[in-house]
Amino acid sequence: MLLKILNPYKLLRFFTEFTSNNINFIKNKYLNSKFYDLNYLIQNLFSFDEKTYSKYCNNIVAEHQIGRIVNMRNLVDKHRNEITGDFLELGVFEGWSLVFFDKFLDKKKKMIGIDTFEGLPHDSVNVSLGQKSVPKWVKGEFGSTSTLKVESNLKKFKCRKVSLLKGVFADRKIHEQLKKLSSHISIVHIDCDLRDSAYDALDLVKDYLNSKKSMFILFDDWGVHQNEIPDGFYKWVNENQPILKFNLEKLYTTNYTRYYKLSF
Ligand SMILES: C[S@@+](CC[C@H](N)C(=O)[O-])C[C@H]1O[C@@H](n2cnc3c(N)ncnc32)[C@H](O)[C@@H]1O
Repeated sequence: MLLKILNPYKLLRFFTEFTSNNINFIKNKYLNSKFYDLNYLIQNLFSFDEKTYSKYCNNIVAEHQIGRIVNMRNLVDKHRNEITGDFLELGVFEGWSLVFFDKFLDKKKKMIGIDTFEGLPHDSVNVSLGQKSVPKWVKGEFGSTSTLKVESNLKKFKCRKVSLLKGVFADRKIHEQLKKLSSHISIVHIDCDLRDSAYDALDLVKDYLNSKKSMFILFDDWGVHQNEIPDGFYKWVNENQPILKFNLEKLYTTNYTRYYKLSF
């Protein structure tokens, strides 16, 4: 037995694997902290590209941040003529994606963000076996924020004034407040993790669908848990597409984002 363990070939293989695993662990820790740094992301907003994406796509945080930044920029650049209305974000947390979009969108565009600013409104419900990066979501997650914190991030990065509404997407008062702020929305960035929240988000923007104008519906957190956002989206589409008869075109994706264009 001892001889088997001391086999030099096996020992060498063990040490090579051990060293390589540790190097990967340290490398990933370093990349996680780098790509969770808002200052670093803002400095590189216009320099990240497909090449940087390929270089870092094995790290989950880098893949997500570079991927979504490149896609946001491409969407705004390539569809500028169709983006005639306002920008709405459903799921703001600390406002990072609001800061990104502020830098990409025409300065005259109105931006609105809606969140509880107290975290997820409930736990994951009926999520089946299997997971990608999270087993399930828990009520209150992302609660470490406030409208003041978002406003301070917006100010720090010299963004335009963004209207922030506090409440859940399904609340009728939120629907009314949104109506007062905007009559035409072109981009909806939905970043809310939960299946019911995604469904409620889409129901909130239903009144803004216009047969003559496209709406870009962008999902962050697509499939972070396979039963959450995709299920909420398909439920809403299955209920509404037969009646409203819209077309959906998938424009851009990354591992955890999916951007659609809805038109008639
Ligand atoms: C992942 S965070 C958003 C991250 C942010 N967009 C960013 O890029 O940094 C998800 C947010 O969705 C919000 N949220 C989820 N469901 C909601 C609902 N039904 N109504 C309001 N806010 C909701 C949570 O409070 C949380 O702040």
